[in-house]
Amino acid sequence: MNDQSCLAVVLAAGEGTRMKSNLPKVMHSVGGRPLIDAVLESARAGGAERLAVVIGAGADKVRAHLAKGGSTVQVFEQRERLGTAHAALAAREALASHKGPVLVLFGDTPLVRPATISALTDRLNAGADIALLGFETDTPTGYGRLIVNDGRLVAIVEEKDADAATKAIRLCNSGIMAFRSGLLPELLEAIGNANAKGEYYLTDAVAVGTARGLRAEAVIGDEREFVGVNDRSQLAAAEAIFQQRARAEAMAAGVTLVAPETVFFSFDTRLGRDVVVEPNVVFAPGVEVASGVVIRAFSHLEGAKVASGAIIGPYARLRPGADLAENVHVGNFVEIKNARVDPGAKVNHLTYIGDATIGARTNVGAGTITCNYDGFFKHKTVIGADVFVGSNTVMVAPVRVGDNSLTAAGSVITSDVPDGAMAFGRARQEVKEGMGSAKKAELAAKKAAAKSAT
Ligand code: UD1
Ligand code: MG
Repeated sequence: MNDQSCLAVVLAAGEGTRMKSNLPKVMHSVGGRPLIDAVLESARAGGAERLAVVIGAGADKVRAHLAKGGSTVQVFEQRERLGTAHAALAAREALASHKGPVLVLFGDTPLVRPATISALTDRLNAGADIALLGFETDTPTGYGRLIVNDGRLVAIVEEKDADAATKAIRLCNSGIMAFRSGLLPELLEAIGNANAKGEYYLTDAVAVGTARGLRAEAVIGDEREFVGVNDRSQLAAAEAIFQQRARAEAMAAGVTLVAPETVFFSFDTRLGRDVVVEPNVVFAPGVEVASGVVIRAFSHLEGAKVASGAIIGPYARLRPGADLAENVHVGNFVEIKNARVDPGAKVNHLTYIGDATIGARTNVGAGTITCNYDGFFKHKTVIGADVFVGSNTVMVAPVRVGDNSLTAAGSVITSDVPDGAMAFGRARQEVKEGMGSAKKAELAAKKAAAKSAT
């Protein structure tokens, strides 16, 4: 086994012209995270201890993104776009200082699994000098073709340089390659640009290497892991593959998906055993749901935590910071943001809870609103335990509603309610005997007079 650390160089300097976007290609998302993050995470989980990314000149958004959270990713700039071998050379400094195998990945190929990457570096340990991931496909157009002679990989020919016989080859290059320690810099220096595009192709490392007697091998994997995102329809294709995979994994882990093809996951969605998800539910990033929770149809969850036994929806929206304890019920047309809801509390109908805490067993009536924002600042609403919040209560934050208290329906609560109190924040009802029927008679006469005048 190899005891040297592995460096992964991710090429992401391409212009992504076919995306027709103001956003750099690798910042587009699949499964709720940028393509570049997916590639880096796979490389890391697949055994790369050091990570380097090559970005295009002026790709400030990518640079800023990579710098987030004290990341240790090294960033290099490719000033001119002269091809994938030229791009890899931009990381020359990282290559020169590295002792150990080197992986090269493309920033636009987000679905490769960590195990597939480690299978590739295993080939180096087994004696290959160069190993690459290939796949067989019925739609090879656009991909480099693998040329195999007497069972040996000898070259990769790009689409633009291929004759008709080569174009008929269905064995393609994924773009993911691994090189034995110390080999890549000298191969890159030897690669020329005598091809249809006048570019320096990383893929020529195979022909250059085998001509020197090096051993190049292809590891053949599943086509669906190697979708390259060059335009919006490939982005959608990658998303579809991601979703199929996430649904299958959820079900394999004991989650019931009533209609799997209508449920959408993010890269970090975590669902416990025996969670039941009804149709048309979206898990945006940052959701954690404990076992036994039921998520009814048409609910949208993001950045939310749900404890066991809770029932969410139908038509519920949980926004970032929603933290629901055991056996909480959240019903239809309820939005919860940045709020802790304690065990057994119920918020069942047409309600907005933002920047709040709700105590255990409290019942929040239909149409309740926390007014958390005054146009400049956000304020907090604290609702105690065992409270009965009457329907259509408006709580103007900052405000505190004490334990075991009650608010009358239709109240506007602007000042604190002590424990055990009942608060009426509405005009007192007046009743005028007979006034209703008198008013109706008056209006009926007026309408009859208007009719006879025409
Ligand atoms: C490339 C491969 C092809 C493979 C396919 C798989 C080469 C020459 N061709 O073709 O064999 O089948 O990927 O998807 O490698 N990039 C740079 N700087 C450059 C050029 C490219 O950083 O000067 C980056 C791009 O951002 C991208 C990656 O390299 O992430 C691949 O470039 P792209 O133009 O998408 O190559 P393909 O035509 O897809
Ligand atoms: Mg590509």
